[in-house]
Amino acid sequence: MSSSFPVFDPASTLAQPLFEVTRLTFWLGGAVFLAVAGLLWYLMWRYRHRGADGEPAQVFGNAADEWGWIAGAALLVVGLLVATVRAAAAASPATGSGAPDVYVTAHQWYWSFRTPDGAQSTGELHIPAGRRVLLDLTSMDVIHDFSAPQLGRKIDVIPGQHARLWIEAGAPGRYSGACNEFCGAQHAWMRFTVVAEDPAAYAGGAAKRAAPAMAVADTGARRGEATFRQVQCGACHLVRGLSSSFPHAGALGPELTHFASSPTIAGGVLTNTPAHLRHWLADTQGIKPGVHMPTLPLTDAEIGDLTTYLEALK
Ligand code: CUA
Repeated sequence: MSSSFPVFDPASTLAQPLFEVTRLTFWLGGAVFLAVAGLLWYLMWRYRHRGADGEPAQVFGNAADEWGWIAGAALLVVGLLVATVRAAAAASPATGSGAPDVYVTAHQWYWSFRTPDGAQSTGELHIPAGRRVLLDLTSMDVIHDFSAPQLGRKIDVIPGQHARLWIEAGAPGRYSGACNEFCGAQHAWMRFTVVAEDPAAYAGGAAKRAAPAMAVADTGARRGEATFRQVQCGACHLVRGLSSSFPHAGALGPELTHFASSPTIAGGVLTNTPAHLRHWLADTQGIKPGVHMPTLPLTDAEIGDLTTYLEALK
């Protein structure tokens, strides 16, 4: 179960120091606020107007007081600076130049993940639990920001550049992530889940995600495969194992090789059920305004066949 307040629920040695410095800043700031506001209220009450006192004594300058306030405030700020620099260093171990464990590509508006040996997924980043995982991140269009706050720091994802980031999940589980940089109409839906698994489960899943699409046998699914070719879904979407004449398939839209294994569709907007997929194919722009997938002029029969086909791609 992913956390309701992931920023306050670190699940790794990379996120823990960031949480601690956040907590320290909050309590120090809170203490200063209470001290200042409390003193203010007390002094207003203590020195309130009580009739004919005349004008109070006018006091200007008190070197000891002023230096005290300056030194106190400076000490707090320098203390926070030191704590922040230490936390930032602990959360950002050197990434070196070795091969990354996962290539992350941000798109308007979904996240695509691929390992060097070809295991691909969309919206769900699978990692082994209990060890650090090195990500290589880039964007296909605008600036996004990768943030899985329970597992590490966040980082900007910029087109034409490759950022590197360590994340780690201390224990198996599902951890929520989101895009943290406004990137257009569907920014708020640009979420992902990090699925941390024990090493055996991870290896099994990775082998499956690296395999090409299974051949479909069912008649409806085969009709759907023909429709997929005919309406040229493959211009944007890659199904590995299905021959395609489109060289950039997979660069424009989410890969669909193991579509049926994904728990959500439409970048996480809908759970992956046949009814939702039919609805999505009939009204992409109504469900996710601004999405780059157009609402295609498909007949109900074509939508039905495409649904059968895609839901067969386990
Ligand atoms: Cu991508 Cu916000």
